[in-house]
Amino acid sequence: MQNYADNMRDFVEKHATGLAVALVAGMSALALRRWMAGGVCRSRVRLDGKTVLITGANCGIGKETALDMANRGARVIMACRDMTKARIAADEIRQQSGNGNVLVKKLDLASLQSVRDLAKEVQENEERLDILINNAGIMFCPKWETQDGFEMQFGVNHLGHFLLTNTLLDLLKKSTPSRVVNVSSTAHEKGRIHFEDINLDKDYDPHTSYRQSKLANVLFSRELASRLKDTGVTVYSLHPGIIRTELGRHLFPTLAMWKRIVAAAVMTFVKSPWEGAQTTLHCAWTRAWQLKRPLLQAMTVPPKSRPPRPWTMLQRRGCGTSAPPWSVSLKHNTPALFSGSLTTNESYYLMGNGTA
Ligand SMILES: NC(=O)c1ccc[n+]([C@@H]2O[C@H](COP(=O)([O-])OP(=O)(O)OC[C@H]3O[C@@H](n4cnc5c(N)ncnc54)[C@H](OP(=O)(O)O)[C@@H]3O)[C@@H](O)[C@H]2O)c1
Repeated sequence: MQNYADNMRDFVEKHATGLAVALVAGMSALALRRWMAGGVCRSRVRLDGKTVLITGANCGIGKETALDMANRGARVIMACRDMTKARIAADEIRQQSGNGNVLVKKLDLASLQSVRDLAKEVQENEERLDILINNAGIMFCPKWETQDGFEMQFGVNHLGHFLLTNTLLDLLKKSTPSRVVNVSSTAHEKGRIHFEDINLDKDYDPHTSYRQSKLANVLFSRELASRLKDTGVTVYSLHPGIIRTELGRHLFPTLAMWKRIVAAAVMTFVKSPWEGAQTTLHCAWTRAWQLKRPLLQAMTVPPKSRPPRPWTMLQRRGCGTSAPPWSVSLKHNTPALFSGSLTTNESYYLMGNGTA
């Protein structure tokens, strides 16, 4: 025993510098991981009797969001493109939550007809819709087109959700207080709406397109929030952080091998899908008075390093009643209106001057 202690002491003395460096590196890695994980939504609110629709719920953030909602007793509609993946995910969610009220419905956001079909089915069969979570997304794909001829990322991330939300508005208004949660991204900050070439036909770049679509999510949220002011339907958009999901599926195959290795190493530090779902959950069911603090951005980025974005500024109204009416307050006015046509009798709009 004495020998062992002496050997240990010798070892520590000989490698003191190396051990100190390893300790600091280890603690820094843990601190970085903790920082990257962001905040956790700890509310114990139950959602019995509420109906939630989540797009893209078969994997990633959407699946974790669906599981949380099922755990809280909600009726969960998973609106998904890949029905096989969706049914497997729904089975897992039913088993883990013990909630049998988890449904799968077909939705391909790259087809406006599919969006209309889903919306019609929901309108005809659901008595209420309390929370609509526009979560599905596609990132950095090649220049693809939706069935209706729109550039894919803009079509799926924005236009499909735009049409879905507007088509379900009556049901949302019937179910007040209700919420619309749009999962955007911090990528919107560098985005621009290419009013003159919305499908980026002249010079397609997957990054430009993703940023444009995520900026469109923010501008749509902002405009919708203002149009729905005082209706009891409130609207949020959010950045969920950086999360280990399948979102990079179109990016990774295009990277050089060394970049893939670095990316794989970086991925061990980023959020898990459960951690990534926390901001969505925060927006979806946290009570109004709790939403004010912390600001959403604070859940993913330390507030001091970056000022809260306009779309994270929340304003409490009428707090103290059992169902307080409240709405999102937005800092900037939006000077220009952009509108385009989906079909002859549907139009989409984006408010703004092309930047957030
Ligand atoms: N992961 C991140 O770091 C990160 C960062 C910022 C923002 N976000 C946003 O978070 C949201 C969720 O992404 P995620 O990270 O969870 O990615 P993910 O694991 O790839 O999940 C994306 C979901 O969207 C669905 N989807 C894609 N195209 C669709 C279409 N045409 N119709 C219907 N559903 C479609 C996918 O279905 P299939 O499985 O059938 O393809 C999948 O269920 C996205 O809006 C994304 O932009 C993510």
